Parts: sequence; structure tokens; C-alpha cells
Amino acid sequence: MEPGNRPASVSAFVGSPRRGGNTEILVDEILQGASEEGANPTKHRLSELQIGPCRGCDACRELGECVQKDDMPALLRRMEESHIWVFGTPVYWWGPTAQFKLFMDRWYGAGAIVHPKGKLAILAVTLGDTQASTARHTVGMFEDALRYLDVELHATVIAAGVNARGEIRGFTDVLERARRTGRDAVAAFTDIGNRKGAT
Ligand SMILES: Cc1cc2nc3c(=O)[nH]c(=O)nc-3n(C[C@H](O)[C@H](O)[C@H](O)COP(=O)(O)O)c2cc1C
Repeated sequence: MEPGNRPASVSAFVGSPRRGGNTEILVDEILQGASEEGANPTKHRLSELQIGPCRGCDACRELGECVQKDDMPALLRRMEESHIWVFGTPVYWWGPTAQFKLFMDRWYGAGAIVHPKGKLAILAVTLGDTQASTARHTVGMFEDALRYLDVELHATVIAAGVNARGEIRGFTDVLERARRTGRDAVAAFTDIGNRKGAT
């Protein structure tokens, strides 16, 4: 696909086990914004997929793929096909959810399938604490991991002070920011594509 000519391909990966919860609502707003710029996003609820924990066996380094037969190869292919990744997780004990961490650990050894350089990422984080700084370890983990992968973190949207399922609907300013972020990311990707002629 030629960025600049066709809209970016956008995929979201949601780590909350709560369907229709705050994280999913926040991610949906980002995807809505991306759609408004012409993208046709897909969303993956990690808790509803089979993702085994990395076994640290290093077989992927030789085989180019994991020995586990689960939903992860399809997710990795989707990551490769996408120009923009949207990662959503609530804060659980200062970190991401276990479901998200399972997914992330399996990026290890995926270099034959996913070529991250040139992708854009958006991070969406929800938490019960009213202080956004409580998300610092979660956000820092993503910032470091994406830097390591040479992926540009386009924006981080944090919704603090949300606990009950759907409570975030009352936080219209955060939702508006999320929607704008989705729109901007697709526009930025198009700009980058035009500048670099990237694929
Ligand atoms: C197991 C568990 C651990 C949590 N740990 C934290 C935490 O460390 N800090 C915090 O601010 N909120 C914490 N929360 C609150 C969630 O981050 C918050 O309710 C969030 O909005 C849930 O998002 P969801 O509706 O998408 O599942 C925790 C919730 C659960 C269920």
C-alpha cells in the first residue's frame, strides 16, 4: 500500500478483559477518529483470543515462528499489515493487564513476521486513580519498548479516575481528545508517507 494515496491501515489491540469497558470505549473513539480520516480499522480483544505465555525456549529465533499453535500468528500478521497500531490497556497494579503482557511477550522472536520500523503507535490507558501519573510505569514500559522497536509513539491518551464499566462516557474531553488523536494519526501517517515515500 502506498501511504499518501490510500488511507492508513489501523489495528487496535485491547487488553482489558471487560467487554465494553472504559478501555474499549476509549479505543473505539480513537478508531472512530481514524475512520473519519478514511481508515477502515480492525479491533482485537486479546482476552477473547488464545494467547499462550512466552516459554522463553528461543525456538522462534531458529524457526522464525513460535512453537505454540494459537491466535498469535494471526495477530502478528495483522500487526505487519497495519501502519498504525492502537494499544489499549487499563492499569492493573501499576502495569498493563496480564492479557496485554502475554500479547507483548510474544513479540519476542517475531522479527521474521513483523517489521515495526515506520509504524505509528497510539497508546490508550485507563485507570481508577485520579492521578494520571499512576500510569507512569505502564506508559514508560510502552515508551521504552516502542523505542526499542523503532516505532514512533504518536500519542498517549490517558483516562484517569474511571472505575465502573462505561464510566468514561462522562469524560467527554478525554473522548474528544481520543477521537482527534485517531484522526491526527492517520493524517500524520499520510504526511510521513508522502515525505519518505515509505510503504
Ligand atoms: C485487578 C485490577 C487491578 C487494578 N489496579 C489498578 C491500579 O494499580 N491503579 C489504578 O489506578 N487502577 C487500578 N485498577 C482500576 C482499573 O484500571 C480501572 O477500573 C479501569 O477503568 C478498568 O478499565 P476497563 O473498564 O477497560 O476494564 C485495577 C482494576 C483491577 C480489576
